Amino acid sequence: MTADESKNAPDPLQAGERLAELLAEVARHDRLYYDQDRPRISDVEYDRLLEELAKIESLHPELRRDDSPTQRVGGRPVSHLESVPHSVPMLSLANTYSREEVEEWHRGLFDFLGDDTELRFACEPKLDGVAIELVYQEGQFVRAITRGDGRVGDDVTHNVRTIRSLPFSLEGESVPSLLEVRGEVIMTRAHFDRVNHRREEAGEETFINPRNLAAGTLKTLDPAVASRRPLDLIVHGIGREEGLAETTHEERFARLQEMGLTTLGPLLCFGSLETVLAHYADLQERRDTLPFEIDGAVIKVDDVNLRQRLGERSRSPRWAIAYKFPAQRETTLVKEIHVQVGRTGILTPRAVVEPVHVGGVTIEYVTLHNRDEIDRLGIKVGDRVLIERAGDVIPKIVEVAVAGEGQAFVMPTVCPGCGSEVEDDPEEVAVRCPNRSCSAVVRRRIEHFVSRGAMDVEGMGKKLIEQLAAEGMVERLSDLFTLDVKALSALERMGDISAKNLLGSLEQCRTRPFSRLLYGLGVRHVGQHVAEVIVAHWGSVEELRGVDEEALTQVNEIGPVVAKTLLAWLEDEEEQADLDRMLSLGVEPATPVVIAPDGPLSGKSFLFTGSLEKVTRRE
Ligand code: IVH
Repeated sequence: MTADESKNAPDPLQAGERLAELLAEVARHDRLYYDQDRPRISDVEYDRLLEELAKIESLHPELRRDDSPTQRVGGRPVSHLESVPHSVPMLSLANTYSREEVEEWHRGLFDFLGDDTELRFACEPKLDGVAIELVYQEGQFVRAITRGDGRVGDDVTHNVRTIRSLPFSLEGESVPSLLEVRGEVIMTRAHFDRVNHRREEAGEETFINPRNLAAGTLKTLDPAVASRRPLDLIVHGIGREEGLAETTHEERFARLQEMGLTTLGPLLCFGSLETVLAHYADLQERRDTLPFEIDGAVIKVDDVNLRQRLGERSRSPRWAIAYKFPAQRETTLVKEIHVQVGRTGILTPRAVVEPVHVGGVTIEYVTLHNRDEIDRLGIKVGDRVLIERAGDVIPKIVEVAVAGEGQAFVMPTVCPGCGSEVEDDPEEVAVRCPNRSCSAVVRRRIEHFVSRGAMDVEGMGKKLIEQLAAEGMVERLSDLFTLDVKALSALERMGDISAKNLLGSLEQCRTRPFSRLLYGLGVRHVGQHVAEVIVAHWGSVEELRGVDEEALTQVNEIGPVVAKTLLAWLEDEEEQADLDRMLSLGVEPATPVVIAPDGPLSGKSFLFTGSLEKVTRRE
């Protein structure tokens, strides 16, 4: 405090009274807004209350309480999101839409643990939110991390602090010395509608669904933005812990609630699969009446020790399964049929439809994969069509519900991107633009190259790529590594700082694993997984260039189609020249660590004899 400020500071008694009034007032408006959905004051008026509160606190820091609302929105913007490793990986869940598979999973548990094992199951709604981990040390909230790739996530503490249902300190005596709580950040339907309504009035683009909005909000750099988009937090599990006595999910759940964390209400546990399935059916029925979106149920083994024995498969635990709700269907009107050019030059028509809400998202476009599909559907502009969407699956048109009067769709004979005459690609039942420098193809290739699963170049969005392509600054992928501050900052809406940040991201991506580079180069049929398989065998560009068909097809997961396209790509002079240029411009892909296929245990079978007392044979 400066001498001047202290002169103007009201006396602490008065200040204390006003502070108490303000705290009560803010708490009242929070309840009206969050619990009752009946805001009484505008955002601006609410902000004014907070401002006054913050001012008194800054003049009288001794009066500030740890749980003051200013502590939620007071954080400074961050310059970027820090990557933080999870101390225990955040796995995903095996998921299914089929009752038979749930039954199979259930049988598998007994096969594994033994028929006479007593199993209880928890059955919870599967929240359609964004996975989060909250770290509490000695009962104090210290960090929030997104799931990321399961091993490393983004530090989003600054935004999670703005969530009002987040306790800064855990309640009760003897809280664990370390508790990593897992859950979902969600936005209720009511808050989602309100945020979108405000945006619509301000002439801004609206969000597609609550999950996207929650995900976007969680990743904003400025907590002031996050605090205006009311998120909620619901916890459903525990990662690492030290000093927690409870050993069943049910007890742990109750404990999380006692400590002040919000769970999905009381946990329901069942002794048999039939009762679990009856609850699933009930949940499905009530789905639309819940205040937030759910997309299924998660069935979990209750006993934590049994969970440990069950362990995990490659990426998901054996002790839980997500039983998703079936696809949802709606009809809507086809307004137009557009043609898009993909990164391999293939032309894909897509229907522009009257926006319709299906399975939790608003759908405005539906891809019509190829000519055969269009012929099968016989689709025309003006038709009403039935759209289906299941979980995260891309929506599709199932059939024409009511035929309109429009003209039948005809595939164009020239590329909408560059005007070149298109060619038939009988292998793909598709039509392709043969022009490698077609600006549409180049744009799509860059988008793919910089995407998260590939080179993951932060800050390179579609708009920017469009500019780079339009200005002729990037005509082939290697051009990305020739960009400099001067050229970038000449672009519209690109300041010096953004240009530097972008160059930083491009610098960082130079050493991404070789598998990511290979995937990013966009070789046909080489997806993320296949790229990893290839690189596990041929770990560098030079090694890969020495490969032949026989060696390729000897690898289990590489079929003749992949082998053919990969070899064609290796022989493609332009592609290889572009890759060479990248390498000369400082791209240095990291080589993988390979678990030696000829290590001491490989190729050996083990036979256990005698009886096993504590574990089952399968275990
Ligand atoms: S338990 C090993 N319970 O679904 C993962 N997950 O597809 C154990 N999710 O990343 C997760 N609702 O973020 C669990 N009631 C619930 C859930 C839930 C949503 C998310 C979770 C996970 C994803 C897996």
